[in-house]
Amino acid sequence: MTEKREYTDDYPEKTLYIPGPTEVREDVIEEMAQPMFGHRMDRMTDLYTTIVEDTKDFLGTDNEVMILTASGTEFWEASTLNLVDENVLVPTCGSFSERHANVAERLGKNVDRLEYEWGEAIKPEDIREHLETSDTHYDVVATVMNESSTGVRNPIEEIGDVIAEYPDTYFVVDAVSALGGDYVDIDAHGIDVIFASTQKAFAMPPGLAVCVVSDEAYEREVGKDSASWYGGFQRALDYYDRKGQTHSTPAIPVMLAYRKQMKNMLEEGHEGRDARHREMAEYTREWAYDHFDMFPEEGYESQTVACIENTRGIDVAATIEQVSEEYDMAFSNGYGSQLGEKTFRIGHMGEHDVESIKELTDAIEDVAGL
Ligand SMILES: Cc1ncc(COP(=O)(O)O)c(C=O)c1O
Repeated sequence: MTEKREYTDDYPEKTLYIPGPTEVREDVIEEMAQPMFGHRMDRMTDLYTTIVEDTKDFLGTDNEVMILTASGTEFWEASTLNLVDENVLVPTCGSFSERHANVAERLGKNVDRLEYEWGEAIKPEDIREHLETSDTHYDVVATVMNESSTGVRNPIEEIGDVIAEYPDTYFVVDAVSALGGDYVDIDAHGIDVIFASTQKAFAMPPGLAVCVVSDEAYEREVGKDSASWYGGFQRALDYYDRKGQTHSTPAIPVMLAYRKQMKNMLEEGHEGRDARHREMAEYTREWAYDHFDMFPEEGYESQTVACIENTRGIDVAATIEQVSEEYDMAFSNGYGSQLGEKTFRIGHMGEHDVESIKELTDAIEDVAGL
């Protein structure tokens, strides 16, 4: 039984190096403290059309964009309901891809898993072989881009090129912890649906999820007998087309913050953010090789989350605790009971740069006596 623990006004601020939520700029946070306005006012149309069109610009996509008050999880459900009649293939390589499969099962779909050891990346040739040899027709192949539990970046571009050879099979990409910090050319690789949560590499407060939808995916939903209501592509995109607003009341303060941060992101550019995240990933990897080892299969390391193998057997929980106490910095243990002490994770995403990541690695060195 959970008991109430009264929230107080007295918590020390921690710099966030967890794989989301991550650090949010002060000017972005301040945007949220504005008097409220109505979601059917013209001002809302200004706000929503600005954030949608700026997001398309930033991502460099001609596909449609919907921004919903939700977390990324919403689009596991919605993309399944909107695109899958019967069968979905989910390559699983960690906790989040496994949960994606689980969501589809809960929605009554037939889920075939292509299982990888945790730490391994999904290989395009395996997808090709499976699609070629299976008797099952898959409505969707659903793949995680950045498996946040293992720190693996899957080659979704090459996987998309394979799936594009199967025109009746749609490609859904969970890019929750990658988009905004790891460049992806959405339109060039047959990606029908790709989604992210704002609290990760977008470096915004939590509360919104962004989904990019191809025309084919939209049409597919229109032709289906049933689909998601809240996360329905048709409902959201038609409403945008007619009114430039959302179909139901959005988290307006978070959208105000989004507007501000998306301007910052546009200024830096998709490629610019990609380069900064690559530098952070390279720095963290080198540091990990100096002191520990990397958990993911070589060549597939994430650009936003380092999953470091605890080869020295340090007490991960105690180190996290002490770094938090002494340095007011928060990083993460390994995901779940399987990786809890065997690995630890550093979220190098959003507003961070090599300098700020180095501050954390210095703190870990100090506390763990490296
Ligand atoms: C890869 C991945 N997918 C999905 C999710 C779920 O996202 P949310 O918590 O925003 O619903 C997460 C959360 O960490 C994630 O890392």
